[in-house]
Formats: sequence, C-alpha cells, structure tokens
Amino acid sequence: QKKVSSLKDAYKKDFYIGTALSASQIEEKNAKEDALIRKEYNAITAENIMKSMFVHPQKDKYDFALSDKFVAYGEKNKMFIHGHTLIWHSQLAPWMEKIKDSTEMKAFMKDHITTIVSKYKGRIGSWDVVNEALNEDGTLRKSVFLNTLGEQYLTDAFKLAAAADPKVDLYYNDYNNEAAAKREGTINLIKKVRAGGGKVDGVGIQAHWRLESPSLQEIEESILAYSALGLKVAFTELDITVLPNPWDLKGADVNQNFEGSAKMNPYPEKLPDDVQDKLAQRYADIFKLFLKHKDKISRVTFWGVYDGQSWLNDWPIKGRTNYPLLFDAQLQPKKAYDSVMQLK
Ligand code: XIL
Repeated sequence: QKKVSSLKDAYKKDFYIGTALSASQIEEKNAKEDALIRKEYNAITAENIMKSMFVHPQKDKYDFALSDKFVAYGEKNKMFIHGHTLIWHSQLAPWMEKIKDSTEMKAFMKDHITTIVSKYKGRIGSWDVVNEALNEDGTLRKSVFLNTLGEQYLTDAFKLAAAADPKVDLYYNDYNNEAAAKREGTINLIKKVRAGGGKVDGVGIQAHWRLESPSLQEIEESILAYSALGLKVAFTELDITVLPNPWDLKGADVNQNFEGSAKMNPYPEKLPDDVQDKLAQRYADIFKLFLKHKDKISRVTFWGVYDGQSWLNDWPIKGRTNYPLLFDAQLQPKKAYDSVMQLK
C-alpha cells in the first residue's frame, strides 16, 4: 500500500477535500489548527462570515474585512475557494427581513448579488447562489424572498450571479436533498431556473448526516440523478452526528426542553470504542461510494476542521459533546480518518 500523508494528497486525483473555516481560523489565531488545515485540505468554505448578516449588515454598508482575509488565505495556500452563500432565509441582516415588496426585493437582490460576486470575480471558484429554498416535501420554503417575488426569485438569483461573473460555478445547495421527495423538488427547481434562462452548474448536498441515515442507496441515486442533468455534485457540509436528535422522540417528549439532559448528551467525556468503530465504518462506506462516482463529484467539504469546533456541539441542542468529524477535540486523527485514508 502507498503511503500518503494527508487527505488532500490521498484524494488529489478524485475531488477536492475541503473544510469550513471559522473566523478565528481565517485569522490564523491558532498555529496548530492552521498547520492541520494546510496539511489536510485543499478547498475552503467560510462557515459564517460570508453570510448576508455579516457581509451586508446595513442597506448601504458592506463589510468585507473578514471575507477579504478568507479569500487571501485560500489564494496564499493554493486552495479552491467556495463562496457561501448569497440568498438564504437564515442569518439575514435584520433590515433584510423587513423588505416588503417586489420592487424593494429586486433592488436588494441586484445590489447584493452583483456587489459580492463582482468583488471576488475570478478569485472564487464556485458560489452557493441559493441555499435551502425547499421544504422536506419538495415544495418551496416560505421566506422573505418567496413572499415578495414568488418563485421567480430563484431564476433571478442565478441570472444575477452569472451576469456578475460568467465563469464562476453556480450551485443550488440544500440539506436532506438526497431524500426522494426533496431530490425531486431540487430537480424541478433547477429545471425551472434553467427554463427561465438561469445557469446552474452544480448541486450541493450538504450531507449533515447520521450513523444510520441516509442510506447509501439514497446517496447514490442522488449522485446519478443530479449528474444526469449535467450538474456537478458537491458534498458541501459533511459531518456525521453520533448523538440522538430531539425530534426522534415522540409523544409527550416533543415539547421537553432537552438542554442539559444526559439522555441527549450520552458521551460527555469520550466516544465509546464501539461507536468510534461505527463512525469509522460509516465514513468508509460513504467515501467508497464517493470514489465509485468520483467522475461526477467535484468536492467533498467537511463542516469544520475538528470535533471540538463543530457546530453540532451546539445544534440542535446547546452544550453537547459531539464527534462528527475526522479529527478529535485535540486535533488528532480518529479511527474514521484512518478508514477514509485506507481506501486509497
Ligand atoms: C451553521 C454554522 O456552522 C453555525 O456556526 C451557525 O451558527 C449557523 O450556521 N446549513 C448551512 C450552514 O448552509 O451555513 C450552516 O452553518 C449549517 C446548516
């Protein structure tokens, strides 16, 4: 077996191996973290700082201080740079939530998308143009965008992004879009955007997954269905929770406040060996499938560098200890890391 020293080298010929970066990582606040990021990953996404509330806090004010650092960091390290995200109902600036009618919304979208995409034209490789526009049943999610413009906002967003940078890859990104109903909704959405003259280059499957779901079959069917439309498939926010989710509990438990509950935080000190093994097996199964379809996959990005900084320690319940990534809280590679490396 060949000896390779990092994820990005092991998968160099297959697809980019990315990570989300926090603000402190973009600012290179911790040398150990920085060394790990440079060693293992060749693609980056900003975990938060490019979202609307951060880059466009007021109607006439943009703040690109951190996003400039993010792009410079990627360039300095010769990494693929992904932009996340232009149009999303969440993490909006408060003033955006108050946009009332179609005239105002059209003006907002034109200014917002054109300003941000033009600013990094030629420096960013792909954008999540629209994020999470669908409900689980594949219908369009209610949002300030849908309320003011109807479904036309989707086509408008992709057209504006392409006009600002004709060469950058444009993605529609969502979670659970490997499940059949939402996958159908995604396909319909993309077909409508294209029929209206918008360009869509790829679909982002966020891949906030669990040990037991989704099935490999659902994932494979999605890779095939999306790429049959000529779309690049990216896995954009991969992590695998090992903790129970509150919505798994039925009946009387539904309205319980689970914060601080031991039932919801079963591994506060360390992940037991048997679960560690299950996680390693799950990652191996998933990467095996990715390799099988490497010609259709552009990028696999983890949602965080290591367990200690994962958003899943605070979502959907605050203050838990989760173990969803390939590096542990001390930045050491886990069994899951070895299992992904051993496929090569
Ligand atoms: C999450 C970040 O990880 C958190 O730090 C933040 O508090 C909320 O957003 N789908 C997305 C990501 O597209 O932007 C989200 O990131 C996770 C779900």
